[in-house]
Amino acid sequence: MNEIRRGSLEEQTFYEQVGGEETFRRLVHRFYQGVAGDPELRAMYPEEDLGPAEERFALFLIQYWGGPRTYSEERGHPRLRMRHAPFQVDRAAHDAWLRHMRDAVDELELSPDHERQLWDYLVYAAASMVNTPG
Ligand code: HEM
Repeated sequence: MNEIRRGSLEEQTFYEQVGGEETFRRLVHRFYQGVAGDPELRAMYPEEDLGPAEERFALFLIQYWGGPRTYSEERGHPRLRMRHAPFQVDRAAHDAWLRHMRDAVDELELSPDHERQLWDYLVYAAASMVNTPG
């Protein structure tokens, strides 16, 4: 399948343009390294092993940006606000989450346009996940 010629750049999904699965796996892996080293944020994650959470998040982003739809095959409709309801996502958690995400995005060294698109989305999505005042 890999030999099938891709269309012009305009026809590629964002997922393909930034390097496909490998890029999203790198992003999420780096992000979870930040979470693992941040005791306050780490305490929010229920499982002892962050591996499964890393996998869910990677599959979600891959699907969101136009890659395979494995996330929904395994987890159903994302309904992310609902899935975050059990966790107290307050301003501090939001800021910590975005800080680690910023480090992870920086390490991808994307083109400025791709980086801006990805970052704008993450900032918007993080704000929409806040469910606890303070
Ligand atoms: C704003 C700060 C945020 C905090 C503190 C936070 C925290 C968490 C926690 C504690 C979990 C449970 C981990 C697990 O899967 O076991 C989780 C799951 C998840 N989060 Fe977040 N999150 C935040 C923002 C976001 C954003 C902005 C996105 C999407 C762009 C996102 C996507 C996900 C996904 C896809 C899952 C797994 C959902 C599933 O169960 O299938 N999160 N998050």
